[in-house]
Amino acid sequence: MDFSICVLIIVFLTYLYWTRHFNYFKSRQIAYIKPTPFFGNIKGVMTFKKNLGVVLKDIYDQLEGPLVGFFLMDKPAMILKDLEVIKLIWVTEFNNFSDRTLAQRKGDLGSDLLPLMRNPDWRAHRKLLTPGYSTGRIKNMYNIVIDSGVELVRYIKRVTETGTNLIDMRHVAALYGAEVVTSTAFGLKGECFRDENSGFKKAGERIFDFNDPKRSLEVTSYLMFHPLVHIFRMKFVEAKSEKFLKDEFLKIVDYRRKNNISEPDFVDILMNLRKNNKSDEVIMDDEKMVAMAITFFIAGFETTSATMSFALYELAKHPELQQRVREEATSVFDKYQAIPFEIITSGMEYTEQVMKETLRKYPPAPHLSRRCNRDYMLPGTNILIEKGMAVYLPVYAIHMDPSNYSNPTEFNPDRFSKENLKQIKPCSWLPFSVGPRNCLGERFAIINFKSAIANILYNYEVELGEDGLYEMDFHPRSFTTAPKGMKLPLKFKRIHREHTKYPE
Ligand code: HEM
Repeated sequence: MDFSICVLIIVFLTYLYWTRHFNYFKSRQIAYIKPTPFFGNIKGVMTFKKNLGVVLKDIYDQLEGPLVGFFLMDKPAMILKDLEVIKLIWVTEFNNFSDRTLAQRKGDLGSDLLPLMRNPDWRAHRKLLTPGYSTGRIKNMYNIVIDSGVELVRYIKRVTETGTNLIDMRHVAALYGAEVVTSTAFGLKGECFRDENSGFKKAGERIFDFNDPKRSLEVTSYLMFHPLVHIFRMKFVEAKSEKFLKDEFLKIVDYRRKNNISEPDFVDILMNLRKNNKSDEVIMDDEKMVAMAITFFIAGFETTSATMSFALYELAKHPELQQRVREEATSVFDKYQAIPFEIITSGMEYTEQVMKETLRKYPPAPHLSRRCNRDYMLPGTNILIEKGMAVYLPVYAIHMDPSNYSNPTEFNPDRFSKENLKQIKPCSWLPFSVGPRNCLGERFAIINFKSAIANILYNYEVELGEDGLYEMDFHPRSFTTAPKGMKLPLKFKRIHREHTKYPE
C-alpha cells in the first residue's frame, strides 16, 4: 500500500480513537462544550497556558445545568454547578464518591499520603489520624506557632535593616509555612528562619516548583494522565525532597526513641500511634509514619504560605482594611503581649474574616475531584453518573460566581462578618471542602494564619511593591493557586512599638 495512504489510515484511526467518546454528553442531553481531538476541553492546561481551576471556571461560566460535561483529553468528566448537588455528592452520598481521582503507584511513598489513599485504606488511616488534629492536640502545639510568629518578625526585621525594605512575600511566607510544618511534623524548631536555604524550605519549594516543567508534568500526570505515572514511574513527591524529608524524620524518631524524649508535636503523635496502634486495618511502620509526616508537610506548607501572601497582597492594596487588622492585633498584643490560645481560636474576628475572604478569592485548591464508585442516578433528573466517572468540584468558579457572591472580584472581608454570614449559601464557600474527606488541618491553618498576619501587621505597614497596583494572574502550571511568576514583592515599613516582644 502506498505510504501516504497508510499514514492517512493511521491518522484516521487515531482520530476515531481520540474522539470515540465525544458524543457522550450529547446523547445524554448534558450541556458540554465541543471538544478538540486529542486535547478535549483542556488544551490550555496541556499546553501549560492555563491553570485547571481557571479552565473549569470558563466551562462553568458558559454552561447551565446542575452539572455539566467536559473532556479530559478523550475522557468524559463532570463539573458540579448546583450547590445542592455538591452537598449530595461530597457529603450525603460520600460513600459512593469517597476516592479522589489522583493516580496511585505501588511502591511510591507518595501513594501512602492520606490525600492519595483510596478506600478501604483511606477510611482506616483517617480514623486513626483524626485525633492527632484535634483542638486539644493543636493547643499542645500552639507554642510552636507563637515561636514561629516571633521568628517571622525577627526575620523581616533582619532583612529590612540590612538591605532593602522590598521583600518577596512569597519567600517570607514560604519560610513561615516551612517553619511551622517543620517544627510540628519534624520536631526541628527555628531551622527555616535561621537558614534561609534550609533543606526543609528547599524541599517544600522543590515539591511546589511549577516553573520546573518536569515537576509540572509529574503532578499534572498524577491528576489527569495516570498512564504516564506508571510508564515513567513518576513520583508524586519530588524525589530529592522525599529522600530528604524521610531521612530527617527517621533521624528525629531514632533520637527521641534512644533518649526517651517526648515533645508536644506531630512527631510524638505519630510515634504514639505506632506504639499503641491496635487497628488491624493499618500497619503503622516507619514508612507509614514518614508518609504521614510528609502529608502534614505537603498539606500545610504551600496552603499556609499561599494564603498568607495573597492576604497581605490584598491588604497592601487596601490600607484601610489593613488598619482594621492592625487595630485588632494591637488590642490583643497590648493587653497580653502574646496571643492567648482562647483568643486566637475564638477572637480576632476581623482577621479571620480576612482569611475567609482571601480563601474565597484565592482558594489554594481551586478544584477538587472524586471518582464515582458505583452507577448513581442524580435524584429528580435522568442524569446517570456512571461508575468510574471523575466528578469535579470547581471551587474557584463557585467562589467567583456572582450568584453566590455579588461583585466577586472585589476583596471584601465584611462578607464574612457575623451579620452577613447568613447570606453565605451552604456549600458556596469551599476552600477546606466539605464532608467526611474535608481538610483535616483547617483549625491549625486558621491559627497559623491569624498568628502570622497579626504579628506582621502589629509591627509593619505593608505596601505594594514596584509600580503599585497590579492584577493577579494565576500560575498556569500550578495545581494550587499560585501567582504567575511565583513572586509577590511588598514593601515593609517598621512601626515603632514601645514594648516589643521581639528581642534580638
Ligand atoms: C489555608 C490552608 C489550607 C487549605 C485551604 C486546605 C485545603 C484542603 C483541601 C481543599 C483539601 C481536600 C479536601 C477534599 O478533597 O475534599 C485538604 C485536605 C487535607 N488537608 Fe488541608 N488545607 C489547608 C491547610 C492544611 C494544614 C495546615 C494541614 C495539616 C496540618 C492540612 C491537612 C490536610 C490533610 C491531611 C488533608 C487530606 C484529608 C484526607 O484526604 O482525608 N491542611 N486541605
